[in-house]
Amino acid sequence: MTKRIKPSRSFASDNNAGVHPNILRAIAAANSGHVVAYGADPYTEVAVRKFREHLGNDVDVYFVFGGTGANVLGLKAATENYHAIVCAETAHINVDECGAPEKFTGCKLLAVPTQDGKITSEQIRPFLHGVGFEHHVQPRVISLSQCTEMGTVYTPRELKTLSEFAHRNGMLLHMDGARIANAAVSLNVELKEITRTAGVDILSFGGAKNGMMYGEAVVFFDSNLSKEFKYLRKQGTHLPSKMRFISAQFAALLSHNLWRTNAERANRMAQVLARELEKIPQISITQKVQANGVFAIVPPRYVPVLQKKYFFYVWNEETSEVRFMTSFDTREEDIKDFVALVKKTLK
Ligand SMILES: Cc1ncc(COP(=O)(O)O)c(C=O)c1O
Repeated sequence: MTKRIKPSRSFASDNNAGVHPNILRAIAAANSGHVVAYGADPYTEVAVRKFREHLGNDVDVYFVFGGTGANVLGLKAATENYHAIVCAETAHINVDECGAPEKFTGCKLLAVPTQDGKITSEQIRPFLHGVGFEHHVQPRVISLSQCTEMGTVYTPRELKTLSEFAHRNGMLLHMDGARIANAAVSLNVELKEITRTAGVDILSFGGAKNGMMYGEAVVFFDSNLSKEFKYLRKQGTHLPSKMRFISAQFAALLSHNLWRTNAERANRMAQVLARELEKIPQISITQKVQANGVFAIVPPRYVPVLQKKYFFYVWNEETSEVRFMTSFDTREEDIKDFVALVKKTLK
């Protein structure tokens, strides 16, 4: 028998949370009998239908194991290896994917500096000078994260401006939507408004951070881009044989507003956490709290002390900026206990 592990709580990542009970129930419900493997099953059919209800009848949806895979394969579908992908310096594809986007697409990433994780078309314009010039990589995709890695959120208008800029200049808009649900809740809009309506071409749709066990989706809003994707997914080792268990999770997440309920809770808890931390004079909040991330400067000597009890990540070693994340299962009492410890430690 495995020794029982005592559950603990943390503010390290929404990936550190468990699985929402409705999702677990959906997995259990899918666990009966045999179905055809690799996606030709009724659970996948239902899940794809759910995606179409939310994002439009003509979207092409492909399930994959994880978010890095979704980003890499989505970008691969849109590029040749002489292309460039423009993204924020802070983008997950730029800092947290071990060079996988460069390795698998062969593209150069052109990373632009940003204070708040967001990029603007003005920052991308200088890269257009090399278009058509054979000595330069050719900018092909703007990749942005919604929410950003700094916990901020693009408005529908900002997204539209970026997509129009991309399309005017022969580029595509890719969205890393690992936290797309948190963004939609933050803006109080439907998922469609910040994807299809905003002009996104390819979307990595996150599941794990919003209460699923694992699984993400690559969504194409233009079927010309997805024509050969099934080969890329298999070759890229992201074709799940028992796909029904990812599909069943997505079907549950996209039903009865579970995606929204989970993200609402996470976002609300981030507001509570930020409000409490703001009251502590030695701590300063560094980013707008728009979704489920709280960024703050904590004096460096206290960081390891706090991390012992509640693990969290230091985002910037130089400035001692740390990241606290809330999730669908964060409770007010978790925040109360954590803030009490912070106050005691920093006294
Ligand atoms: C913005 C963003 N994109 C993508 C991912 C997906 O990563 P993974 O490959 O760990 O599922 C993450 C995970 O932390 C993320 O924060």
